[in-house]
Amino acid sequence: MKKADVILGLQWGDEGKGKVVDVLTPNYQIVARFQGGPNAGHTLEFEGEKYVLRSIPSGIFQGDKINVIGGGVVLDPVLFREEAEALARSGHDLTKRLYISKKAHLILPTHRLLDAALEAAKGSGKIGTTGRGIGPTYTDKVSRNGVRVGDIFLDFKAKYDRAKARHETTLRSLGATYDLTELEAKWFDAVEYLKQFRIIDSEQFLNDSLAADNSILCEGAQGTLLDVDFGSYPFVTSSNTVCAGACIGLGLAPNRIGNVFGIFKAYCTRVGSGPFPTELHDETGKRLRDIGHEYGAVTGRERRCGWLDLVALKYSIMLNGVTGLIMMKSDVLNDFDTIRVCTAYERDGERIEYFPYEVDDRLRPIYREFPGWKQDINRVRRYEDFPAAFKSYVEFIEQETGVPVKIISVGPDRHETIVRD
Ligand code: GDP
Ligand code: IMO
Ligand code: MG
Repeated sequence: MKKADVILGLQWGDEGKGKVVDVLTPNYQIVARFQGGPNAGHTLEFEGEKYVLRSIPSGIFQGDKINVIGGGVVLDPVLFREEAEALARSGHDLTKRLYISKKAHLILPTHRLLDAALEAAKGSGKIGTTGRGIGPTYTDKVSRNGVRVGDIFLDFKAKYDRAKARHETTLRSLGATYDLTELEAKWFDAVEYLKQFRIIDSEQFLNDSLAADNSILCEGAQGTLLDVDFGSYPFVTSSNTVCAGACIGLGLAPNRIGNVFGIFKAYCTRVGSGPFPTELHDETGKRLRDIGHEYGAVTGRERRCGWLDLVALKYSIMLNGVTGLIMMKSDVLNDFDTIRVCTAYERDGERIEYFPYEVDDRLRPIYREFPGWKQDINRVRRYEDFPAAFKSYVEFIEQETGVPVKIISVGPDRHETIVRD
């Protein structure tokens, strides 16, 4: 029986998952998203075109592969429709290739209103969510009040009305003002639109597919440090972004998981509030943002930038059982004289070598410096052809983490990718 491979982010999201899933899809029959929702923005570039996917898996552009939106995902029918219609306009008909799990929870219009109202109520302690209703939808799931995709063929309106009534009580208590008429009309239209896709028991489909020797690539959203259990809580998203989330979100037993590909940027970024030990508030941070175009794919917000944090990376590798690393955006560091990597932290004179419970302002990174390679690596296509300084950087990461760097990305395009044997 085949196993399912997993690809997921090891930092705070936006590592480049979309690009790599697209590159790896030819090796698989099925690509399945396992958690998150339209808080994700996965960018793909090929043939001079750029696409940003939010709910639709990133395998959608490669031939006739089946793409599955798994049960662990939260789906906003309105945003899904916008995304699917935009793809159809650019010549990609998804109706035969995109399956949706009955168990995926629906993001209601009131979930989005709640997300905004709850954030506003938090004032300066706000999480800086994407405002897509993610937290309130997962809250309803766990409190057993959610409305699922499979319900649209059942007692849908009753479930919707009950959820809406509860949400409105909370919205009123938060003093929110809103008008639902237009939002609801659009939402119910979009639910009708959903019905043209195959709505399936995805856990059965995926397990049957493995039994029939079809291979699956599981696509994560967000990143390990945004995981609701292991990330920098409460500044996290509301789902399990770690590898175990693929088992839960797709109904795959742990022993059905094969390779786990962990993606990281050659430096580090974060969007929204929360701790970030290697964040740079200086000119270097600004340079990383400018050269790396570090602005959110979904919200357009500035991403906070800093050096690669190997302590955090090792923590993520441990949590996910990463078997192969994928280093992205290596080209962004082309012009830096010196590149720094955090190898440990220090707090009040004490050296800390693991990712601690408390990540506060007193936690200081200890850096190791590397000379920059000071040349354009965007056109390199074989590992042997990289400058020695670049190879030292990669090999240091492999040595520290004990995991091979299997893929290196040197630009946003599909072809700007080096796969090592
Ligand atoms: P995701 O959420 O993990 O899929 O990542 P995003 O799409 O949010 O952000 C990654 C950004 O980096 C996108 O704009 C990509 O086009 C871009 N990108 C991906 N890989 C590379 C790379 O190797 N070099 C450069 N310069 N940009 C890249
Ligand atoms: P991809 O899949 C980066 C962040 C938000 C916020 C926190 C909670 O593109 O890597 P939420 O809306 O989920 O309740 O917000 O998580 N966040 C992301 N940051 N990339 C993402 O997705 C993210 N999805 C959520 O900025 O700090
Ligand atoms: Mg993104």
